[in-house]
Amino acid sequence: MKLQKIVVIGTGYVGLPAAILLARAGHDVVGVDINDNIVRAINEGVLHINEKELQAVMEEEEVRKNLRAQSTPCEADAYFIAVPTPLDERKKIADMSYVISAAESILPHLREGNLVVLESTVPPLTCREVLTPILEKSGLKVGENLHLAHCPERILPGNVFHEIVHNDRLIGAKDAKSRELAAEVYSTFVSGQLFQTDDVTAELCKLMENTYRDVNVALANELSAVCDTLEISAKEAITLANRHPRVNILFPGIGVGGHCIPIDPWFIKEVDPMNSRLIFTSRMINDEQPYRIAAKIRKAVKNVNTPRIVAIGATYKPDTEDTRESPAIEIVDILKSDGYSIEHFDPLVPEMKYESLESIVEGADCLTILVPHKEVISELERSSDAISDKMRTPIVLRF
Ligand SMILES: NC(=O)c1ccc[n+]([C@@H]2O[C@H](COP(=O)([O-])OP(=O)(O)OC[C@H]3O[C@@H](n4cnc5c(N)ncnc54)[C@H](O)[C@@H]3O)[C@@H](O)[C@H]2O)c1
Repeated sequence: MKLQKIVVIGTGYVGLPAAILLARAGHDVVGVDINDNIVRAINEGVLHINEKELQAVMEEEEVRKNLRAQSTPCEADAYFIAVPTPLDERKKIADMSYVISAAESILPHLREGNLVVLESTVPPLTCREVLTPILEKSGLKVGENLHLAHCPERILPGNVFHEIVHNDRLIGAKDAKSRELAAEVYSTFVSGQLFQTDDVTAELCKLMENTYRDVNVALANELSAVCDTLEISAKEAITLANRHPRVNILFPGIGVGGHCIPIDPWFIKEVDPMNSRLIFTSRMINDEQPYRIAAKIRKAVKNVNTPRIVAIGATYKPDTEDTRESPAIEIVDILKSDGYSIEHFDPLVPEMKYESLESIVEGADCLTILVPHKEVISELERSSDAISDKMRTPIVLRF
């Protein structure tokens, strides 16, 4: 193996699985994290992310032998950077501070022939305009005696072990040698296809994938609003439209959550606002969706005196426990700030669990299912009569 020793900077949802798979493939891997609890957990063989299959891999002898963690970087053949790139909420641009400090932290250790791989999701031109100038402070020259590639991550939390191995990957770099070296490292643990391209294309592709989703959701949400104006069922209209052989409209939702789809489209607008009008409008439509849903709930209870509302679902999508950027939480907050009495439960979120729907709707006027977790829908269908009987006013809304 040409690149035997690999340092992974940032061992969270993206960096840790990569570190584990690289160790399993026989690399000598050092995970680096500024969070001491994570460093300790890795050294004790404990996975700090909720991925059952990956925990088993982490306990394999080869992984325990080849993976260790520490809080600062050291010399290596290759560096992977997988630190957060959150959205600066006020400016709606990428907060690059973690990437910058990660790059600066490896500077003293860089030597001729090293490969640096950026896995974090970033605005286009980050490799050229942000990373290259920092890395070249080492005296080395990117594309000549230092190699740099962007290999964005596509894993789906909850299914990380399968996806990190089987998904196709993009290997983006300005020069052929960087591409070749990065492809060589990924080929040690990826069985999906590795597609080589330039760095800017790889940066934009990752953002395009999530933006595609966001724009399509916005179209569904907008069409649903039109259906409401016309007082027809959006579900029926979309189902019938989708009988066209080349049409596949998504169904409307309560908004877009999670840590990728509502964020990544902004990184495109950041670099080319003039050509991002559809992307921007879609973001606005999806960000406004929780207000439309709150209005629907208000309308449903408008004839009830001091209505008591019970809301189910707090995660950003069904059948996960992840509440990051959750529109369901936003809807409940909107209604609370309007003065409504609303109780919020979620069977998958530890601190929001409940015994049964029947027990929590006693005396309520509106049961609203914000997130259709499989177990919620099956309980609702199983005991719909009993649930209605317990309610003071049996208004049940499903989104
Ligand atoms: N989570 C996902 O499903 C997913 C999927 C695709 C892409 N991404 C992208 O991958 C990147 C990382 O996301 P994540 O979900 O792994 O984040 P995360 O918060 O789970 O992990 C990032 C880790 O980096 C550490 N860190 C921050 N600055 C550091 C530094 N200077 N040195 C060392 N460690 C540092 C943090 O302590 C944290 O443990 C982001 O750009 C994200 O958008 C995430």
